[in-house]
Amino acid sequence: MKGIILAGGSGTRLAPSTDSLNKHLLPVFDKPMIYYPLSVLMLGGLREIMIISTPEDTERFEKLLGDGSGLGIKLSYRVQSEPKGIPEALLLAEDFIGQDDVTLILGDNIFFGQGFTTLLRNAIKHHKHATVFGYRVKDPERFGVVEFDHRQQVISIEEKPEDPRSDFAVTGLYMYDFRAVQIAKRLKPSDRGELEITDLNKEYLKWNQLRVELLGRGFAWMDAGTQESLFEAGEFIRTTQQRQGFKIACLEEIAFYLGYISKEALYEKGKGMEKNDYGQYLMEIAERKHNQQYWYSIDHHPMLGLVENE
Ligand code: G1P
Repeated sequence: MKGIILAGGSGTRLAPSTDSLNKHLLPVFDKPMIYYPLSVLMLGGLREIMIISTPEDTERFEKLLGDGSGLGIKLSYRVQSEPKGIPEALLLAEDFIGQDDVTLILGDNIFFGQGFTTLLRNAIKHHKHATVFGYRVKDPERFGVVEFDHRQQVISIEEKPEDPRSDFAVTGLYMYDFRAVQIAKRLKPSDRGELEITDLNKEYLKWNQLRVELLGRGFAWMDAGTQESLFEAGEFIRTTQQRQGFKIACLEEIAFYLGYISKEALYEKGKGMEKNDYGQYLMEIAERKHNQQYWYSIDHHPMLGLVENE
């Protein structure tokens, strides 16, 4: 399974903050927004990941994350010359995807919840055709909306319907087999002039090959694409982190617990930022004698995933 993060777009809803900086580089409390979707792909166990962004911003992401070796993963980058819709990511990444399955995540989507790693890993393990993730929201008309029966079989999927058939929004996390690229090639732009991911999902639905995984009320799913939602997401992260003393989407910590980087590398990374809380946090983890004690509450330790999976 390959991973793609779509971090392009013009970010007009966040102007003027985004006039000279890509939205996905803005901080959500104590780390850049892109850390959050990247943490999701890493927790899912994906190690080959492509970041797609604008001509001006791609090198900024490269400066931030490099080739991924510092995190034990392989990152590559691709330029999207102008935003033409989410499915374009699949077209731009055609050679990268090859004959593999792919998980696509939107760069402003934040997922958090107990058991998320297990859910993700199970979805990847059993993945066939197409999988989307549903989340109950108060304002489904703002999103793709999925309707399903009591066996969780998808009945319909619609983009921003005036009269939603369910309260379940389709989140910005999608899993496809390699055929998605060919399907994306046949899509026509919608009224808003973009290729729609919902149209691609509809194709899978036609063949009865669209699965929906539900994220329950114990999960937080946020998009940080407007001033309000960016602020709210930052507040949520701050409050949760402050209370528990764990950081959310701390990429180096995840890489360490997944066994991708050594204790020494983790410590060094922290030392480079020792004057701030993030750096001190990394150093503290590297210095802990019994990291096992912390696994129980760090949902992303692979051991936990395996125990719950078997
Ligand atoms: C896009 C998709 C929509 C999905 C949403 C999730 O909406 O078109 O189906 O529910 O992402 O964040 P947009 O951000 O383009 O309004």
